[in-house]
Order: sequence, then C-alpha cells, then structure tokens
Amino acid sequence: MCFSVVGALMAIFMAILCLVLVFCFGFVILRWNEVRYMMKGLPPGTMGWPVFGETTEFLKQGPNFMKIHRARYGSFFKSHILGCPTIVSMDPELNRYILMNEAKGLVPGYPQSMLDILGKCNIAAVHGSTHKYMRGALLSIISPALIRDQLLPKIDEFMKTHLSDWDNKVINIQDKTKEMAFLSSLKQIAGMESSSISQPFMTEFFKLVLGTLSLPIDFPGTNYSRGLQARNNIISILNELLEERRASQDTHLDMLGCLMGRDENRYKLSHEEIIDLIITIIYSGYETVSTTSMMAVKYLYDHPKVLDEIRKEHFAIRDRKKPEDPIDCNDLKSMRFTRAVIFETSRLATIVNGVLRKTTHDMELNGYLIPKGWRIYVYTREINYDPFLYHDPLTFNPWRWLGNSLESHSHFLIFGGGTRQCPGKELGIAEISTFLHYFVTRYRWEEVGGDELMKFPRVEAPNGLHIRVSSYSN
Ligand code: HEM
Repeated sequence: MCFSVVGALMAIFMAILCLVLVFCFGFVILRWNEVRYMMKGLPPGTMGWPVFGETTEFLKQGPNFMKIHRARYGSFFKSHILGCPTIVSMDPELNRYILMNEAKGLVPGYPQSMLDILGKCNIAAVHGSTHKYMRGALLSIISPALIRDQLLPKIDEFMKTHLSDWDNKVINIQDKTKEMAFLSSLKQIAGMESSSISQPFMTEFFKLVLGTLSLPIDFPGTNYSRGLQARNNIISILNELLEERRASQDTHLDMLGCLMGRDENRYKLSHEEIIDLIITIIYSGYETVSTTSMMAVKYLYDHPKVLDEIRKEHFAIRDRKKPEDPIDCNDLKSMRFTRAVIFETSRLATIVNGVLRKTTHDMELNGYLIPKGWRIYVYTREINYDPFLYHDPLTFNPWRWLGNSLESHSHFLIFGGGTRQCPGKELGIAEISTFLHYFVTRYRWEEVGGDELMKFPRVEAPNGLHIRVSSYSN
C-alpha cells in the first residue's frame, strides 16, 4: 500500500517534471532569440536611481559623465537618462554601423515631446518609404540649382538688411543669430521675413522650440503645453498662407512655391505634410545655424590671425564686385577658408553632441542584447577631439581643413551620417558664410566681457553674448 502511494507520487512527479522539461524545451525552441539574448546579457553600466536613473549626474557632469563612464565600462554602456533606458555608444565604428543601418531597426529615437510638437509627418517621425519620400521632397526644394538661382539671392538680400544698422551698438549676438536663422528660413520658404506675420510667427516658434526640449506633461503652464499651443498657432498662420497661395494665380519663386507647384514638382505632398515639412525645415536649421554663427564670431574674436585671414578672403570677393552686387554661387565656392572656419567651429564647439536612435525590436549589437524600444545615444562628441584625427585637437585651427580630405573622412559626423545625413548641409553653410561675409567686411567688434558660455548639453550663453560693434571703415 505504502509502496503503491510512493509509486503513484513518483509517477506524478515524473509526469510534472516531463511537462516542465517539454515546456522549457518548447520555450527555448520557440523563443530562441530571446533565450540567446538573455544568455548574452545587456551591456555593462548602471541604471542609476529608480525613475530618475542617472539624469542628474548626466546633466551636472556634462561631457565628464561620458568620460567617467567610458573609463569604468568601456565605450558601449547602458544607463538611464532623460526618462529612458539608454545605450551610449562612443565607439566610432559602431556609431557608423548604427547610422548606416536604419533598415535593421535602428530608427530615430527623439523624445516624445519633440515628435508631438513637430508633427507626425516630420522627417524624424517617419521611417522607410515615407521617410524616403519626405526627404526626397525636401531635397527637391533645396537642390544645388535652386540654392544658386532662388535661395542664395534671398539669403544675400536678407543678410544685407539684417546686418545693416549694427554700427555703434552693443549687440547680443546670440539673439541676433537666432533671429537671423529663423527669419532667413522664413524668407526662403515664403519670401516673408519682414511681413506682418513674421514677428508673431517668430514668437510662437521660440515657444515651440522650448516645448520640444521639455518633459511631455500636458498641463497648463508647462513648456510642453505651451509648445503644443504654439504648434497650433503656427498651423493657423501657415493655413492662411497656403489658402492665399492657392487662391492666387501668382508664381512664387520660393520653397513653398516649389512644394505647391503641382505640375513641376514630382513630389506631391498633402496639406498636412507641407505644413510639417515647413516646420521641420525651420526647426532643423534654427539652432544649428544660429549657434555655429555665434560661436564663429566668438572664435574669430579670440583668434585675430584667423580673423585677418577670413577678412582677406571676403575683401577679395568685394574687390571683384560693385558695392551692391550680391554674393553668388561662384563667390560661395571661393570661400574655402570660410568653409574651414565653419567646420572648425562646429568641431571645437561641438554644436551637435550626437544623435538619438531607438530599437524597433530586441537585437544584438556589439555582442550584447539591446531590448526593443531602448534608446541609443550615438555620441559623436569625443571623435571631434581625437588627437589621431585632429592634431592638437583643443586648438582652433581652421587651416587643418584645407588641402586634406578631413571633410570626406568616414568619422566626419558633424552633419550626421547614413540615410539621415543632414540634407541642409550646403544650405546651412551658405547661410553662415553669407552672414560672416557681411559681418567681417562691414564691422569690427569687441566682447563686452563677463558673459558665461555653456558647452553642454547644448552650446549656449545663458545671459546672451554681448559685443560692441563699430563700422570697419571708421
Ligand atoms: C550648421 C548647420 C547644420 C548642422 C550642424 C546640422 C546637423 C545635422 C545632423 C547632425 C543631422 C543628423 C540627425 C540624425 O541623424 O538624427 C541633421 C539632420 C537634418 N538636418 Fe541638419 N544641420 C544643419 C543645418 C540644417 C539646415 C539649414 C536644414 C534645413 C533644411 C537642416 C535640415 C535637416 C533635416 C531635415 C534633417 C533630418 C534628415 C533626415 O532625418 O533624413 N539642417 N542635421
């Protein structure tokens, strides 16, 4: 009796064991990928405090946060910053791989607030064929031929006016370059930098920018909520503009004219897509162009020899022209030293620290498991200070860009890389070069002094960067 109970219990136990084994075996077979990843494990690093992760340390320590973590965990580590589990990649080869392989599930990973406020058709929010189409539409309105024939004349006209009355004034160059980047875009988009709607548009746009950099808490008074409201107000302004254009028979030689020109442009965008593309164009060029221009002014002031050299280049252009002649494409091509100053400024100031991606599914990267939905911070800052690429990397030396192929080097990521490489690179360079042309040929300047400059997480002067400007000819 006793034996038969024990026997029965043994049989039940064996049956359960078999079931568990079959279940485990089935799980291993069916979920092989997950099992493989579990065995591989996540990259080294720490997730920090619950909810906050390592955000405070990241913001407080700045670039040192990355250096300390790299010394501890290597150049590929996990963390938890700005509300998301994040992998930081500082390895140049891996960074290139990530940027080149969006099709393998490494898509843009920009914060929710940015996506909500810039709209669901904005380029960073779309992938695959939709991205290709939207990008094609953008490239079609900023092609080299259109820059030459339509955009550069507008940029030139705008810069001439924007820089017309700075003599004998103390200028906050940070504010002036921000206005410059916004209004110059508006002129190229719709030829309306000085119309009655440009000022209200600019006020709303500045609120929109703050909203994209905030936590997505939709509560009255938060930057996010103000950003969403600003988006709605901008949409109303643009709706009116588009309606006016549709009702008129006039031909407009600007970006909007190209986008709305039904017959000529092979990219047919919906009303909503046009609006989101316009917001994308203004937004993408705004901070990059304005901050690079401000920092170029700063570096030129700090390096008189560079200022002499760039002035020589621009006065040589003026010598070939009548006083009122605009800058044209040949002039732009001849600005080799100016281009070098722009690259050296972007490198040394690191205007863009890196770009964000996220995984669309669990994947293996660098021998580790990266779970679905994790953010990857492709951190490109360190490569800008690599002594093997840039001799004496902490020195501002634009000459390093002349006569060698640094611009086409595979680690040149100032404008990003892969399928998302900046489509506005040449347009941005044209804007900054034209700004510098009128600035250095018309004025001399000195810093008022005492202004603080922050380099991380964004390059900015919290209280402005003030310069005393006087006419160069005095
Ligand atoms: C000095 C000026 C500029 C710098 C340093 C710069 C830098 C960058 C970088 C690093 C990226 C890659 C972002 C990523 O991979 O996620 C990018 C993308 C982009 N840039 Fe620029 N940019 C500049 C000017 C402009 C201008 C003037 C425009 C206006 C047309 C523009 C439009 C864009 C757009 C639309 C994208 C997204 C492209 C895509 O996702 O396919 N940029 N830019």
